[in-house]
Amino acid sequence: MPKDRLMVPVQTSRPLKLAQRMQRLGTETAFEVLVRARALEAQGRDIVHLEIGEPDFDTPGNIVEAGVDALRGGWTHYGPSPGLPTLRETVAEYVAQSRRLKVSPEEVVIVPGGKPIIFFTILALVEEGDEVIYPNPGFPIYESMIEFVGARAVPIHLREERAFGFDVNDLASRISDRTKLIILNSPHNPTGGVLSEKDVRAIGKAIGDRDIMVLSDEIYSRLIFEGEHFSIMSIPEFRDRTILLDGFSKTFAMTGWRLGYGVMRPDMVTQVSRLMTNSNSCTASFTQMAGVAALHGDQSSVEHMREEFLRRRDVMVDALNGIKGFRCQKPGGAFYVFPNIEGTGWTSKKLANALLEEAGVACLSGTAFGSFGEGYIRFSIANSIENIEKALERISSWVKEHV
Ligand SMILES: Cc1ncc(COP(=O)(O)O)c(C=O)c1O
Repeated sequence: MPKDRLMVPVQTSRPLKLAQRMQRLGTETAFEVLVRARALEAQGRDIVHLEIGEPDFDTPGNIVEAGVDALRGGWTHYGPSPGLPTLRETVAEYVAQSRRLKVSPEEVVIVPGGKPIIFFTILALVEEGDEVIYPNPGFPIYESMIEFVGARAVPIHLREERAFGFDVNDLASRISDRTKLIILNSPHNPTGGVLSEKDVRAIGKAIGDRDIMVLSDEIYSRLIFEGEHFSIMSIPEFRDRTILLDGFSKTFAMTGWRLGYGVMRPDMVTQVSRLMTNSNSCTASFTQMAGVAALHGDQSSVEHMREEFLRRRDVMVDALNGIKGFRCQKPGGAFYVFPNIEGTGWTSKKLANALLEEAGVACLSGTAFGSFGEGYIRFSIANSIENIEKALERISSWVKEHV
């Protein structure tokens, strides 16, 4: 189609009568800020991108090769809704070994990215009027989906003074007869907080033997700087109450491939597969074959990325702590830093907007991650050291003028 035909706005004479539930759907601000940053670039401005949560590395070569081979080999057709048996087996082995569990392929469901596991879990389990406890600040899709299905979103406040963990007594006090689901996320977006084995066991104790499911979002499980990842699914009493979410986006720099998975009891796999049949039919077959290569192949690129994020984290945190009004902890995992900016006297949103428009640094307001994100901003460190240093210089000179 010629380009000018695409540009013509569609004239509508009728109002779009949306379903009520669409008013309750939230969003992920990172994508909106990216659009605004690109618009400024189109006007000739130079912007350092520290807003989007995706590794700046290319997908490792062996994985790309496997994807291309799969395309040429005819893996271009529909596959089973819960995923190709070969990838389900590979994921089962990987999760068994990394979480020290016994996992069978029947407990694995392959989906296009990590996000659908959030969507499908909430759709399948949570009724209108139920309560779901979720981290705040936290990945915005949790709150969005909880509200979308008409449930009550019950935030658990992640506190800076607890290294962005929470008090289990606080969790215990939020559990009610209506609590259907508790969402955990470690390493955590946006704070980089990591739950230790001790923390996870204490959370398990607080939940006790109640009939509550846990969605454990472990998408950053390979991006830990200190200590080891520990999943609540590794606690035998939580084996059949946990839906473990993980995927390929962050670990193997495969965000655009759309490949993730959930590990859960087989009867829940059946329900998630029904939702897959009704929405996507299946995950792209050649992408799944690349996933097999990712888990079976050389893991040195994963370690290389982790080391590089660690180096960047230290540069970023040390410099931010030298900027007036900023106070920043060292995150234990993921690739974000989440400085407290209350000392600047600016609100989070205003500061994030000013840094984008006046300093040329794209970042996100802490409030993009929930109401308890006020007083913070999030920088993604998925950019080169040179660009991070450029951003830090710009922030520092902007602050000298405005704070
Ligand atoms: C905590 C968390 N969970 C899930 C996802 C979704 O990952 P995917 O791109 O694989 O859908 C993200 C992506 O930013 C995330 O930060």
